[in-house]
Amino acid sequence: MTSRPTLLIAAPAYWASLWADPLAEKGIAALVHGRDAFKREEIHYALSFRPPTGLLKSLPNLKAVFSLGAGVDGFLADKDYPRNVPLVRFVDDTLSLEMASYVILHVLIFHRNQRALDDAQRRRVWLQSKLPRAASETRIGIMGLGVIGSFCAERLRDLGFSVAGWSSSRKQIRGIESFAGESAFTPFLARTDILVCLLPLTEATTGILNAKTFARLPRGSLLINAARGGHQIENDIVAALDAGQLAGAVLDVFETEPLPQASPLWLHPKITITPHIAAISDPLPSVRMVIEGIRAFERGERPEHVVDLDRGY
Ligand code: NDP
Ligand code: OXD
Repeated sequence: MTSRPTLLIAAPAYWASLWADPLAEKGIAALVHGRDAFKREEIHYALSFRPPTGLLKSLPNLKAVFSLGAGVDGFLADKDYPRNVPLVRFVDDTLSLEMASYVILHVLIFHRNQRALDDAQRRRVWLQSKLPRAASETRIGIMGLGVIGSFCAERLRDLGFSVAGWSSSRKQIRGIESFAGESAFTPFLARTDILVCLLPLTEATTGILNAKTFARLPRGSLLINAARGGHQIENDIVAALDAGQLAGAVLDVFETEPLPQASPLWLHPKITITPHIAAISDPLPSVRMVIEGIRAFERGERPEHVVDLDRGY
């Protein structure tokens, strides 16, 4: 690198501090939006998750933007995103592993009837009739067979579950049934007892977890959404749970975050809520991604994982 590149971090103060110091140690001048004074012309790179609308467009010398997370909908929601500036998303094994452990935890709780056993314990009941069936009899359907979805699918396959995935293009993953495109959505849902959403949020996937989708699942299925709140219609989830079409819903993400105090989801007996923590980006690999990315851009190359802005993921 010839002159010292300057990076602007636009993230809540706590997060920003986790990234700023290790970046500075590696020779990247890291300024924090809202904390440090800066001239717009001096910024070459930005790191964020949901940048303030219009901020990135206002930086005339911006060469590239890095996402703190795997999902980039927070950038694309900014209609003023400067589309000539490459956006690099976070892809990392530790993130995939965290996501897989979240999904596996909730799959096993459902598959092994753990909620009923917890309830029996509170009533001092020896409930042997709730034996789990064989894993191969539980059919898991993963919406989105990308980096995280395929990682989860393989781990669940290795536990003996019957796993299928639905994606835009057909995949060849050992032991995983692949469904591709809109026409395959209904057959995919019809063979799914546990539906796991790991899609990116795009125009095509907004609101996809709706009444019509739930009606196509076998009665008594479980929904796990660890992707984005924009995928789900929360009123439809509650209606499907109350009607017994869904047996339960595990939600890490919400239409509005933080989930408003008044939301009926909080106390619904069939809903498990986690506060968008299925996986949290680890600063170390993320700092590595930013440094390697900046080095590549400074050499005139493109690093891995540049987002296709037209596709939206
Ligand atoms: P990828 O981009 O690697 O994978 C996306 C997958 O979705 C691909 O298989 C793609 O198909 C498929 N897809 C996209 N659009 C459609 C569509 N319209 N119909 C069918 N399939 C579609 O993303 P990741 O696996 O890295 O991440 C997935 C999402 O997980 C992120 O976007 C983010 O929202 C969420 N996430 C949530 C976290 C949390 O803490 N809750 C943490 C990390 C990620 P194809 O392969 O054919 O292109
Ligand atoms: C992500 C997230 O997209 O944490 O990485 O939601």
